Amino acid sequence: MKRTHTCGELTGKDTGKDVILAGWVHRRRDHGGLIFIDLRDREGITQVVFNPEKSKELHHTAQDLRNEYVVAVEGQVRNRPKGTENPKIKTGEIEVEATSVTVLNAAQTPPFEIEDDSQISEELRFTYRFLDLRRKPARDKLIIRHKVCQITRNFLDKEGFIEVETPILTKSTPEGARDYLVPSRVNPGKFFALPQSPQLFKQILMVAGMDKYFQIAKCFRDEDLRADRQPEFTQIDIEMSFIDVDDILDLTERLMKEIFKEAIGLDLKTPFPRLKYHEAVDRFGTDKPDTRFGMELVDLTDILKGGQFQTFEKVIGAGGIVKALNFKGKADISRSEIDVLTELAIKLGAKGLAWFKAGDVTDGHVESPIAKFFDEGRIKALLKKTEASKGDLILMVADKKNTVNEVLAQLRLAIAEKYGLISKNSFNFLWVVEFPWFKYNEEEKRWEAEHHPFTAPYEEDLQFIESDPQRVRAKAYDLVLNGVEISSGSIRIHDRQTQSRIFKAIGLSDEETKARFGFLLEAFSYGAPPHGGIAPGLDRLIAMMTGSASIRDVIAFPKTQKAACFMTGAPSDVSEKQLKELGLTLKK
Ligand code: AMO
Ligand code: AMP
Repeated sequence: MKRTHTCGELTGKDTGKDVILAGWVHRRRDHGGLIFIDLRDREGITQVVFNPEKSKELHHTAQDLRNEYVVAVEGQVRNRPKGTENPKIKTGEIEVEATSVTVLNAAQTPPFEIEDDSQISEELRFTYRFLDLRRKPARDKLIIRHKVCQITRNFLDKEGFIEVETPILTKSTPEGARDYLVPSRVNPGKFFALPQSPQLFKQILMVAGMDKYFQIAKCFRDEDLRADRQPEFTQIDIEMSFIDVDDILDLTERLMKEIFKEAIGLDLKTPFPRLKYHEAVDRFGTDKPDTRFGMELVDLTDILKGGQFQTFEKVIGAGGIVKALNFKGKADISRSEIDVLTELAIKLGAKGLAWFKAGDVTDGHVESPIAKFFDEGRIKALLKKTEASKGDLILMVADKKNTVNEVLAQLRLAIAEKYGLISKNSFNFLWVVEFPWFKYNEEEKRWEAEHHPFTAPYEEDLQFIESDPQRVRAKAYDLVLNGVEISSGSIRIHDRQTQSRIFKAIGLSDEETKARFGFLLEAFSYGAPPHGGIAPGLDRLIAMMTGSASIRDVIAFPKTQKAACFMTGAPSDVSEKQLKELGLTLKK
């Protein structure tokens, strides 16, 4: 019995046809006489009717069918009786009157119902991922993922890119997370590292003259997991020669436009806005601003400085700052609600949360426990700078600059989430550009790379590498979508002299650079073209496109928060023999 159609395609046009369908029993309804079966496959659901008056034996077989049995049904397509059509599904006009049924396989009762909106725990869902993926919403996410990969390949192929696979068993790459290591049996005591990205190989492919490279690449990072991080994830990895920043941003915008249009029918407006790193941090407290709502951060340090509120004076005196959010129209929230926000701010790292409720702004009327510490001039200036109107609630944090920005960035998001300020159906793309090249590692008291050490500085900033590292801007860019970093890339250094200066500046000795990146530097000495690239994170992109709360939902077989596989139970023990072959002993 070979199927003639899928369960998602028969319509009124097919009435009278003899067909064979195969799939899973989605639901069985026994109406005493008639038995109805919803037969399901990847493409949809078709209603099948068993009529006892046509065949007693067939009807008996149908009585024994249970959910998730795999069956093949032969029968004739006919219109459903008037009033029983289901306009919600494509096959809703018709049903198949069965003339025979073959049970291809029985099934145990599944641990959860295969329904679109089942409330199932993640653990159960991913342990039985093969059942979870029978649910339409779960399956549709993988289908979108498939489409995005196809669109990406076609688009980049048309743009002249060549897809090249790079090794999985390799050496440590410079992305800065912990490596996954693989012991070598043939070379006892030596280890491969799984690539954190194809970064070094794609640069070498540019030296090799490949000109335009891409790969839908698996990357491995042993880092603490969150909703948008997995130990293995996928990048649309891209590198190009003879280009500068604008070329990469333009290509990425066109790629995103094509992906959104072709996969989910959405027209994106390009070019995406660009924000310099410092402006992003000043206005949103973070380098990945969610611009779906306002409530930007306002610096009040200069205005409040010299007031009588000792807490602020101490902070400002020690070089700290005071910044505020204007929570529009919320002066009427209760004290206990303000207490909840204060506790949240403290949990996020603040020492407190000061607030002003704006009254008549032209008169400088405010209500606040700390209003008495400030003169009218300061209060009026504060209201003006925060663009306050009557009824607004101004929330303030005073602390070290980084703390203020981090706390207010999080508080801004938490408030927006809690009070429903975010328009859920918008896709706000934004480039963050001109990152600082260096960031200071307080613990180790040294400068390190904000991105990776192959990122090119702006030519005009090269002079500050040694004298004033924090002034050096990197030709690095991040693409942010609704507050999530979905791509990151840079123009690379392609001359040895700059590369050596940079390595020195981040305290890498010649021996260290040779041991870690010697092969790349060697390649660079044979004529490296100017080049650069980017790597959109595929999982994050699909998660955003499908409105998924976690990237786990868009990965066929994802890992738990503890970096284990729900379904297979990996990682698992290995035998003594295997350990011995690898020359490894485990500490008890
Ligand atoms: P970066 O490390 O910023 O850059 O990674 C690029 C993009 O990959 C995604 N991403 C992740 N997604 C899921 N789980 C993770 N653990 C994870 N880590 C990163 C993010 C991120 O923006 N080689 C450089 C790119 C380049 O310079 O061309 C790189 O890997 O969406
Ligand atoms: P206090 O003088 O400690 O009673 O604080 C008065 C108000 O200022 C309270 O609302 C505190 O939450 C708030 N506050 C205290 N420290 C800070 C700070 N560093 N930044 C912002 N507000 C603060």
